[in-house]
Amino acid sequence: MLTLGFSGGWQLIHENIYDLQSWNCHDSACVLLENEKVIFAIEEERNNRIKHTNKFPFKSLYLCLKNTDIKLDKVDLIAYYSSKENLDIITKRGFLNNAQVTTTDPVSFFQSLFRKGFNYEIDPAKLCFISHHHAHAMSALALSGYESSLVTTFDGEGNNCSGMVFEGEGITLKQIANIPPSKSLGFFYLYVIAFLGYGIFDEYKVMGLAPYGDPKRYSKLFQTFYTLLSKGDYVIHEDKIVSSLFNLGIPRRKGEPFTQIHKDIAASLQENLENIVFHVLQYYKQETKQKNLCMAGGVAHNCTLNGKILRSGMFENVFVQPAAHDAGCALGAALYAYYNANPMAKKPSKLEHVYWGTDIGGSPSVLNQLMQWQDFITYDKLVNVSEQTAKLLADGYVVAWVQGRSEFGPRALGNRSILADPRPEENKERINKMIKKREGYRPFAPSVLEEEVDEFFEVPPHQKQFPFMVFVVNVREEKRKLLGAVTHIDGTARIQTVSRETNEKYYDLIQSFKKFVGVPVLLNTSFNNNVEPIVDSVQDAVVCFLTTELDYLVVGEYLVKKKEVSWKNHLSLKISLPPHISLHQVKKLDSDGNFNNFFCIGNSYDRNFQLGVSSKVFRILMLANSEKTVESLLQEDGETDERKAQRILEEIMELWSQRLILLCP
Ligand SMILES: [Fe+2]
Repeated sequence: MLTLGFSGGWQLIHENIYDLQSWNCHDSACVLLENEKVIFAIEEERNNRIKHTNKFPFKSLYLCLKNTDIKLDKVDLIAYYSSKENLDIITKRGFLNNAQVTTTDPVSFFQSLFRKGFNYEIDPAKLCFISHHHAHAMSALALSGYESSLVTTFDGEGNNCSGMVFEGEGITLKQIANIPPSKSLGFFYLYVIAFLGYGIFDEYKVMGLAPYGDPKRYSKLFQTFYTLLSKGDYVIHEDKIVSSLFNLGIPRRKGEPFTQIHKDIAASLQENLENIVFHVLQYYKQETKQKNLCMAGGVAHNCTLNGKILRSGMFENVFVQPAAHDAGCALGAALYAYYNANPMAKKPSKLEHVYWGTDIGGSPSVLNQLMQWQDFITYDKLVNVSEQTAKLLADGYVVAWVQGRSEFGPRALGNRSILADPRPEENKERINKMIKKREGYRPFAPSVLEEEVDEFFEVPPHQKQFPFMVFVVNVREEKRKLLGAVTHIDGTARIQTVSRETNEKYYDLIQSFKKFVGVPVLLNTSFNNNVEPIVDSVQDAVVCFLTTELDYLVVGEYLVKKKEVSWKNHLSLKISLPPHISLHQVKKLDSDGNFNNFFCIGNSYDRNFQLGVSSKVFRILMLANSEKTVESLLQEDGETDERKAQRILEEIMELWSQRLILLCP
């Protein structure tokens, strides 16, 4: 049986007819199951290159089918991560508010969507609507490998609910608690981090900031933000949060420096989130006597919290579904629909890997793609990829490493990674500056050979496998100095254990690195810059390599280096706009009362986004069609002055770094 699972919003990449904001229906994804086994899974952001995109995952669907050579006709079930009742309200509201919406019920809504986006007529009998939190829960339960467990799904909000608690037996979920949006732990986190200059999708940054603060400083204040009740219940006092935080001083705006107040708030927030979650878990642990815990939902990406639950010993085993955010609902919805149709089907064994995405292909295909960029890069086939790459890492270089199939979920686990020596502490700063241009306080994660995890990290005696970077554990005290680049200020690390069975190439690489330097650990961070999702294709990898200061790129068997090029070489690149980008010319009053022309770039998913560009660049972008080079467009625009042309190109290159335009050979 073939089952497709979907998460995300309902618009095509260039549309915003529902005016969905980035916090609605984010993290679109598509998952294809053959019986209970995942045969392809990918988040739409990897394909449409919009972080946390809420566009319907048609590109992902296309890849799922293409890579498995399956026709959509052959798919038996199509599952979406929302209840029918919830979608019914949405479609009816959409119909009332927007003349472009012509359907008033979920089934015809999906039929029209597939007709428009995929030119396909869905058989309504195949459609299944799975409630948001049941999808989260099933993704964790089914892949945990546990016979029975307690299952929690804390998040912001989905289907008018911010979390559920279940008892799971086999593949059956018995719901025992429903947590309303007013008690949302995801929102609790967001209310506070707004004061720190952060918003949705920044939660993990605050988790990294927390160890720099003292949670005791505001512990009394934070305890007024919520009340713990009996039977694992609690109340959140949203009204108190904003006004109380303002009493501490002026909030930090995005980009401003952090004061100790901000760091202490982050620390208090982390501690109090943990307090509430432990309060809920303790009660349901006692009630159900379950020895195992499964977690999904956005809050399960709080790896510090996960590590504390693990260390507390409250549960013998803890499983966190690695795509715990809403992309994981595509997985859970598919599994739920499959088991609903096949209640006697066997439960999968414990999840071992998530290398379910795009394959870079064999060497001829990789070479072919690299050759297109030959004016900008050199590429050499390596005799021993692991050993030669390990030597570069041992020599102190920062290497982007792209192999096999991409990972499903937010973590690069050794197939779309930037790697470096985990020892020199200065590597933190160096990589943050050269690639990520991100806050210097944020830690990098270590990948360690599975059988050597004990030597470097404090892990429970009965749980040694941590393949998904979802738990923060203590680095052994005597190793903290040695692993300076991956040990956080509080002596912890968000580890990934690597086994030969699940990723032979990455395992061999770390083992080779050990031969050179004696340490079976690498610094592993996702391969992307600060504005884009993790790279997926070879093309994405080359673009990211060329627009950052990375030392080397290894794709498959090829070692890629940058050529020394002058600015004029870039004139030969062809320019086009991604489908979600739009160009706007507006005439508006300036502060002197004069009407002026303004030129800017917008997009189809954030109505607040507007980036001004020069009139010259605007005209070039208006003419861009992926056929013409930058040089020919400059000529068409009558630009003959070399210095001016260089300035225009610099502006274009910056837009490329921001991924607002496409350049290709
Ligand atoms: Fe969710």
